[in-house]
Amino acid sequence: MAEIFSSSVPPTHLWPVRLCEDPVEKPSSIRPAEGKLAILLPGLGAVATTAIAGTLLARRGLEKPVGSLTQMGTIRLGPRKDDRAPPIREFVPLASINDVAFGGWDIFPDNAYESAVAANVLESRHLDLVREELSTIKPMSAVFDPAYVRRLHGTHVKHAPTKADLVEQVQADIRGFMRTNDCARAVAVWCGSTEVYLEPAPVHESVESFEKGLRNNDPGISNSQIYAWACLKEGVPFANGAPNLTVDLPAIWQLARERNVPIAGKDFKTGQTFMKTVIAPAFKARMLGVRGWFSTNILGNRDGEVLDDPGSFKTKEVSKLGSLEIIFQPKLYPALYEQLYHKVRIEYYPPRGDAKEGWDNIDLFGWLGYPMQLKVNFLCRDSILAAPIVLDLALFMDFAMRAGMRGTQEWLSFYFKSPMTAPGLLPEHDLFIQLKKLKNTLRWLMGEELITHLGNEYYD
Ligand SMILES: NC(=O)c1ccc[n+]([C@@H]2O[C@H](COP(=O)([O-])OP(=O)(O)OC[C@H]3O[C@@H](n4cnc5c(N)ncnc54)[C@H](O)[C@@H]3O)[C@@H](O)[C@H]2O)c1
Repeated sequence: MAEIFSSSVPPTHLWPVRLCEDPVEKPSSIRPAEGKLAILLPGLGAVATTAIAGTLLARRGLEKPVGSLTQMGTIRLGPRKDDRAPPIREFVPLASINDVAFGGWDIFPDNAYESAVAANVLESRHLDLVREELSTIKPMSAVFDPAYVRRLHGTHVKHAPTKADLVEQVQADIRGFMRTNDCARAVAVWCGSTEVYLEPAPVHESVESFEKGLRNNDPGISNSQIYAWACLKEGVPFANGAPNLTVDLPAIWQLARERNVPIAGKDFKTGQTFMKTVIAPAFKARMLGVRGWFSTNILGNRDGEVLDDPGSFKTKEVSKLGSLEIIFQPKLYPALYEQLYHKVRIEYYPPRGDAKEGWDNIDLFGWLGYPMQLKVNFLCRDSILAAPIVLDLALFMDFAMRAGMRGTQEWLSFYFKSPMTAPGLLPEHDLFIQLKKLKNTLRWLMGEELITHLGNEYYD
């Protein structure tokens, strides 16, 4: 396996800036959300089943979809004095949660109800209400080579002589699901386990090299990449909720452009990084220095067990470490952030299950260098924070597809720990810049004025 991990190709964000020869243009029209949308989730574990159960409860009016921007958010339009703030789902032609069908793949044959019970996130007072519907959602057999997720051993897996054959099998699954469930469109959101750390390799450089690699069973092509390739070939937008490279590779960017399909990633921004990307911009806004940021987590779900493997942890660590260095811009503010020591730990601790606890100790300094500290203790619930992100991504990716957007959807970086960008471009991590970017993209697509917050029109 060693050759999988070593490569002389640098991580994608260090590649030279290459601006698109044809920048994204505003679509002349947006196709309406007609017919049913298939939401396909590779990985029917804790996050996926919590997202499905919550959506089913919300559509029956039994619970509110708390945490979902598409379902609960509004968007200001025009000048502040106009007081126009429609719900996002009325302003933008999003698919309704009444018109979605959930499906997915897993290495275990448990249906979504059984998997949700095993994940132990939602209580029976919720699961019992949607038990029947959840039980009908049975995972399709998975593309799974345990070399990429060492802690798991499943039996519900596909077998084929080459990775190219596996791509075809996933394509057939997608077509079969859409036919059986009478769906007009599909989107995929990766909710599978975090894979071992991989760097971009020559096999990822172009569509041709990737296709060749699929035929030759190149070890640089992981399970998640096989799903992504199949989805793009079927015209199915793909968002990646894990830190794996998956769709952040030149071959996939190229395929997404050629097939006019949106892609987005990586790694749902839920607990600790969500807080980091709120607090760090606040320190920077006030020109306060930071010497150290130590983050540790305990969690006991299956995700925690997978992350206990050093290969998968490395993938997560790289994803979690990026945000602070980019927000603080130490090259621009050496006196404040050059000495920042940033450390992230994740400890697998079974008694906690999905109820993760994160601690952050931040050593900051202010006027004349006097030291201060901030301690953050977030007792969150991993899948409760991630579930609405799955729903929002599915609906926004479907909307992007109908609006003719293709390739990397940077406006969805709001949802990701390690947002994908054009090669060489540093991502925006500040949560509120990301939110403005998202809302301005919606305004722009719908022909509304962008909001700059200049506000000069209110004063003479
Ligand atoms: N919950 C959060 O806050 C959060 C935040 C960021 C990212 N994530 C990521 O989301 C993903 C899902 O998290 P989770 O808590 O639901 O984990 P989980 O372990 O409960 O579920 C993952 C599921 O994926 C399945 N799986 C693994 N490889 C597969 C493959 N090749 N094909 C099909 N299924 C496969 C596993 O069997 C499992 O059922 C993980 O990668 C996690 O790192 C979660």
